Amino acid sequence: MSLAEEFEWFADWCVGTSPLYEKLARGVADDPYLLSLAEEIPPKRGTPNILFAAVHWHLLGGVSHPLADFYPSVTDDPKTADPFPAFREFCAEHEDELLPLLRNRRTQTNAVRRCTALFPAFSHISNEVGGEPLALVELGPSGGLNLCWDRYVYDYGDAGRYGTGECVLDTKIRSERSPPLPDEFPRVASRIGIDLNPLDVRDETDARWLRALVWPEHEDRHRLLRGATNVARQHPPELRQGDAVEELPDVLAGIPSDVPVCVFDTQMRYQLPETAQDRLRVRIEAAAEGRPLHWLSGHESADEWEGAFALNWFDGEEYRRLLAYEQHGKWLRWVR
Ligand SMILES: C[S@@+](CC[C@H](N)C(=O)[O-])C[C@H]1O[C@@H](n2cnc3c(N)ncnc32)[C@H](O)[C@@H]1O
Repeated sequence: MSLAEEFEWFADWCVGTSPLYEKLARGVADDPYLLSLAEEIPPKRGTPNILFAAVHWHLLGGVSHPLADFYPSVTDDPKTADPFPAFREFCAEHEDELLPLLRNRRTQTNAVRRCTALFPAFSHISNEVGGEPLALVELGPSGGLNLCWDRYVYDYGDAGRYGTGECVLDTKIRSERSPPLPDEFPRVASRIGIDLNPLDVRDETDARWLRALVWPEHEDRHRLLRGATNVARQHPPELRQGDAVEELPDVLAGIPSDVPVCVFDTQMRYQLPETAQDRLRVRIEAAAEGRPLHWLSGHESADEWEGAFALNWFDGEEYRRLLAYEQHGKWLRWVR
């Protein structure tokens, strides 16, 4: 795909969910200056996401410019006229400030509502290991918000409400059978995440990058991100910097061998080269030969349900699908 095609593809993706980014992406696709600016972004980092997040990051930081009047995340009364001329002008005027973000930042959207899919999956695995506390290892945790999953409240509608706290994650269950949801959260022995670039939610720059990655119209996701960030600031999870595939054996070696491990990843593997995906599978299967180890991976799209991802489960011997979830966790179907 050429860069212009990538922006057209992104614009199509935004239809119905971000009118602002749809208009901007169509404009960029036709604009040689902005395409050349986007070329500064290293390949395979999600170029449109990074360009729009870099601009959004500056606007969220309070840079004064007429472009801000189009962003629902910045103003209460956003303009609906064509935002593209102001966007182009903003990029030209602030190119020097944008370049470091374009060159160095990654697509690291930390979607905390995905925990509504992880909670039943952890419960299922907890049942499998007789309720023993789990050692959680997240691959590609970004800011680690999903490692704090048992500090949030879960609202599954008729299927129940779980947990206490200020950050309420609501979702819909779209299957006839409800997933296994115990009264108590499954116990956690330890938790650690491995990311190429862990984001520290206590750091204003990183926390703002997480906000900038959420599309401006998605107020609901901004609200959840604020809530989860407050929680994670009080209980920051351990995040290790490095390549998850390379670091995993070392992290596993640090966990007592009789403690059941649950490795998990959501929306991370699409950022891995294919060879690394194979290596990850081989390493996990090898590790599971010597200890109780389960792997949850939210990676493949579940084509039979539009916009859904499959959460697959490896129990040490076999791979099976546990559930399908909407990419940001708005609904789930328990399929096991
Ligand atoms: C789209 S974010 C998803 C974050 C989180 N898992 C979630 O679902 O909200 C993907 C994350 O994977 C990380 N990542 C990509 N490749 C990686 C690798 N080889 N090793 C470790 N982390 C990686 C990125 O830095 C980013 O933080």
